[in-house]
Amino acid sequence: MDEERHSAMNDTNLTVIGLQWGDEGKGKIVDALTGRFDCVVRFCGGANAGHTVTVGDKVYALHLIPSGILRHGVHNVIGNGVVVDPSVLLEEIAGLTGRGVAVSGANLHLSNRAHVVMPYHKAADRLNEAKLAGSAKIGTTARGIGPCYADKANRSTAVRVGDLYQPGWDARIRTIVAEKNAVFAALYGAEPLDADDVVAQAASWRDALAPLVCDTGAMLRQAVRQGRRILFEGAQGSLLDVDHGTYPFVTSSAVTACGVPTGAGVSPRDIGRVIGVLKAYCTRVGAGPLATEQDNATGDLIRRRGREYGTTTGRPRRCGWFDAVAGRYAAELSGVDELAVMLLDVLGTVGELKICTGYTLNGRPLEGFDPTIATLEGVQCVYETLPGWDEDITACTRYGELPQAARDYVERIEALVGRPIGIVSVGPKRAQTITRNSALADLIAS
Ligand code: IMP
Repeated sequence: MDEERHSAMNDTNLTVIGLQWGDEGKGKIVDALTGRFDCVVRFCGGANAGHTVTVGDKVYALHLIPSGILRHGVHNVIGNGVVVDPSVLLEEIAGLTGRGVAVSGANLHLSNRAHVVMPYHKAADRLNEAKLAGSAKIGTTARGIGPCYADKANRSTAVRVGDLYQPGWDARIRTIVAEKNAVFAALYGAEPLDADDVVAQAASWRDALAPLVCDTGAMLRQAVRQGRRILFEGAQGSLLDVDHGTYPFVTSSAVTACGVPTGAGVSPRDIGRVIGVLKAYCTRVGAGPLATEQDNATGDLIRRRGREYGTTTGRPRRCGWFDAVAGRYAAELSGVDELAVMLLDVLGTVGELKICTGYTLNGRPLEGFDPTIATLEGVQCVYETLPGWDEDITACTRYGELPQAARDYVERIEALVGRPIGIVSVGPKRAQTITRNSALADLIAS
């Protein structure tokens, strides 16, 4: 029996990931699905993520806590692949508790192997960005993500959650702070951090987080053995992946479905079916290539209609046409089974719509999407133009109620990306979710 289980793919579980540059609306999809799952797991990124979930009239912005926290009885896990800023986590817990959402060791667990974002990581992120020359700036969220993952790879200067409970933890932190201060002074002429303050902060985190900390990988593998249903909640988007994104304008973790086994501590067979979430257009916050960017009135209109401002930083997002070449690449990379297309309503009244169907470099067609080539000058998009629609579609609840032009647009995305679209979202509320014939639709509806 066990052998059979080990050789088969697990289709009890589900992975939801973004296929663009983040902010695709994953939080809404995860929230719509959490009622069908026992556990919701974050496996990458940190407080750079901002997942907006609307429940009734209430809007929640989650950064570290999985979106399942808003459903009673769902078990939420922050996996080992996440970098955790305890001050953000504790603030988020307090905010939820203050709004009547219970958070405790009964519904939230934190991996003892997750790495801790320390105050010096946030300082390093800011100092490093400030030092980079204009076009080299990555435009990070300044949440200390890159410096924390750098220490993870460096090992000797890393602090894992579990390390806070080891004898001599405070002396070790003092040593690391001294080392960081020496680097900050030498490289940036920056003021030193006070080691006493850092240790005092870490001591308060230790106590507050203790009820949540455990070996979450072991917990999840046991859940798999017991046939419990697990939803893996992606953060950021595939084109921000440290290996497969538009490097160096990426985040520092593995954010595709390929990052789930490592970041959660489960077998690759147990990530389940993969849902890829796409916006009906493209946005990007921070620097880096966005070939379909519309730095003009169309981009401004999309930004205004889509309220395209960062959940974490409030920065205006760069907006552009849907890039089907990049979407196809990202869908293939993660073995996506089905797509969810979000924010379709935003494109109403925009006029004729364009979809990027290919790239050329100095006039010659390029094969597929190469994230390195995408950064080169001379790369041009090949567009297909489709009719737009002026109707307000936010009250549509069935696919057939959408205007013909909206359906044609959705079906063209489906054909170009090469995966079935199971969900079309026409607004932030749970009710504004149109499902089409698909396994995903059945799951949401059941
Ligand atoms: P970092 O992850 O803060 O280092 O930022 C690196 C790049 O990823 C920047 O361009 C950020 O704007 C972008 N980024 C990181 N997290 C998110 C996210 O959750 N949504 C959208 N962009 C993100």
